[in-house]
Amino acid sequence: MTTPRALVILGSGYTGRWIYKLARQQSLPILASSRHPNRHLSDVEPSRRIRFDLAEPSTWSGLPPDADLIWTFPATPLEQVRAFARHSCRPPGRLVVLGSTSAYDREGGPLDDLPPWIDEAHPVNTGLPRVQGEEYLRTHHEAIILRVAGIYGPNRNPVEWIRQGRVGPTNKFVNLIHVEDLAHLCLLALQRGQAGDTYNVSDGHPRRWADICAEVSGRWGVVSARQADRSESGKRIRNHKILTHVGYTLQHPEFYDALQSIEAHRQPPIRL
Ligand SMILES: NC(=O)c1ccc[n+]([C@@H]2O[C@H](COP(=O)([O-])OP(=O)(O)OC[C@H]3O[C@@H](n4cnc5c(N)ncnc54)[C@H](OP(=O)(O)O)[C@@H]3O)[C@@H](O)[C@H]2O)c1
Repeated sequence: MTTPRALVILGSGYTGRWIYKLARQQSLPILASSRHPNRHLSDVEPSRRIRFDLAEPSTWSGLPPDADLIWTFPATPLEQVRAFARHSCRPPGRLVVLGSTSAYDREGGPLDDLPPWIDEAHPVNTGLPRVQGEEYLRTHHEAIILRVAGIYGPNRNPVEWIRQGRVGPTNKFVNLIHVEDLAHLCLLALQRGQAGDTYNVSDGHPRRWADICAEVSGRWGVVSARQADRSESGKRIRNHKILTHVGYTLQHPEFYDALQSIEAHRQPPIRL
């Protein structure tokens, strides 16, 4: 029997930790990386911790050879991305890179406009450093790029963003994905995604912040201190390609049900 290739999460932040947890549940040979493993990975078994820093080439050899990689921080700067990929990203190891839907250009448009739907064929802004890194990894190292919408979940709570006035009732469309669905899709993309291809990751239900604010006010009485200002119309991201390609049904298709659960388990802020 052949030993399965190791799977390394490059950067174990918010999403990385959810991927780690899921991979452990699936008994995958997972390792978690951090620039400060002793400080940031104290809850991960020591044998599964790796010190890795893209900016420190001496740490690159700490990765097992031929490992599958899920890259969960912005792929910049380009020169470092190139050097690291030449060192560590080669078949049979597969590579999934988390990008952002902010890669899609969508400037201007009338403010009351309903923005068009955006799929993976839409042009990306190659002037953005992280897009340059992602496109290099996709075209030279067969990386699978996930263009990820706004990530929410436990401890990343949109109701809290409204409570704190970080967002308000603008007409701008926002696209979101629950972190648990994102973690599933990262692992499925690694297993079933087309090498060198791009997939959008979103719940497929773009919403205006004004509508979210109205619903949140009605359900929880939470109102943003931020006034509605004139803002851009945003984007509407299609998620059809990844769901059909990897065969996945979202576990959190109902945004307000997910918020209900997140709010129910919310830890109140500590007041000193
Ligand atoms: N948040 C959103 O709504 C959103 C939306 C779309 C796309 N994205 C993208 O999705 C990805 C995951 O997001 P996230 O919010 O889960 O990220 P996150 O919590 O910031 O986690 C990324 C982790 O990567 C590690 N890291 C950062 N720079 C590094 C470097 N140079 N070398 C090695 N490790 C490094 C850091 O951990 P250590 O300090 O422990 O090393 C950090 O905690 C990111 O690329 C993000 O830009 C996020």
